[in-house]
Amino acid sequence: MEKPGTNLEKYENKDVDKDVDKDKDKNEDKAIKSANSCCFLRAMGTLEKDELVRNPDYLSKDLTSLKFKLVYNIIPLNFFKSFVEKRFPTSYHHLIARTKHVDKIFLEEISNGVEQVVILGAGYDSRAYRFSDRLSGIRLFELDFPGTQALKKKRLKKLLNKIPENVVYVPIDFTTRTIEDVLKESDYDAKKRTFFIWEGVSMYLTETAIDLVLKFISENAASNSSIVWDYAYKSFIDGEYMPKGGPEAADHAKKNGEPYIFGVKRDEMAGFMKSRGFEMISHLSPKDLENLYLRRKDGKIDGNVHQYINVVYAKVRNEDEITSTNRHKDLELDLFDLKTQKQKE
Ligand SMILES: C[S@@+](CC[C@H](N)C(=O)[O-])C[C@H]1O[C@@H](n2cnc3c(N)ncnc32)[C@H](O)[C@@H]1O
Repeated sequence: MEKPGTNLEKYENKDVDKDVDKDKDKNEDKAIKSANSCCFLRAMGTLEKDELVRNPDYLSKDLTSLKFKLVYNIIPLNFFKSFVEKRFPTSYHHLIARTKHVDKIFLEEISNGVEQVVILGAGYDSRAYRFSDRLSGIRLFELDFPGTQALKKKRLKKLLNKIPENVVYVPIDFTTRTIEDVLKESDYDAKKRTFFIWEGVSMYLTETAIDLVLKFISENAASNSSIVWDYAYKSFIDGEYMPKGGPEAADHAKKNGEPYIFGVKRDEMAGFMKSRGFEMISHLSPKDLENLYLRRKDGKIDGNVHQYINVVYAKVRNEDEITSTNRHKDLELDLFDLKTQKQKE
């Protein structure tokens, strides 16, 4: 969304960026921008009059860059929406639906006794701060490039005076370090039931990188741990399926040096997750997201989400439970056999 070559954050944050080697990693610069763009879209979505389709992330306007804050303050929402719909169709509404869906699952997990939250590629995710009154005793680990984290901390300190003590920033470059290594160095506790959030990141990663994350969770996280993550259709990644907004998004990602490379066929996702140690709780399609989160008071859908992204919510398979479920099924089969045998007799 930002013009190539501009990097307002670095200008804005000369001091905090000392620890970020400016020439070292262009990928990090681009990632910092993509996190900022997501945050900005959420901020604009908070301006919706109709609360049913409003983005609930009320902190996003204070976490985005100065340049975007200016746009937020002066550009009328309708003008902005039609501009974004032309340049990056479906992006604006996608962020509203995704935020609402992940918020809903996050709050359910908290009510159901989750003890830790790990946010992978957290960017300007604000859940740790928006819901701080519900998070006492729960640790939140935010994983991202150190550059994104330095900016976020600076903006949060300005906003809240201090970073809440239950939030732990864990720097990582997913391409060079595993989450296993970085979490082990932090005070992440593998024995605690954990909820993992992985929003808007998988499409940029290799299947190997994705497997490492899923394998770590399924093999190390405590029972009843779960993950919500989104992924692209494989046909979109392969260029065979190009719905509204698809070409613009793929082109932008490519130009930004972060091409979309990972996707799965929707009907293979349950098997994909099962083979990696998970069982599906829900699997929302683009139409599901629109129906659930973008229906206005007048009953109409306010806009489309990305037509090539699905959202998975899955829990780590508990081997004991699986065995007992299978045993239960075996028992049902036995009873069924017994009944049919009796009928025959
Ligand atoms: C599209 S943004 C999404 C951010 C956030 N999850 C959200 O929904 O607003 C992608 C995030 O992944 C992070 N990211 C991308 N590649 C990364 C990498 N190799 N290592 C660490 N973080 C990375 C970026 O810094 C950015 O915060």
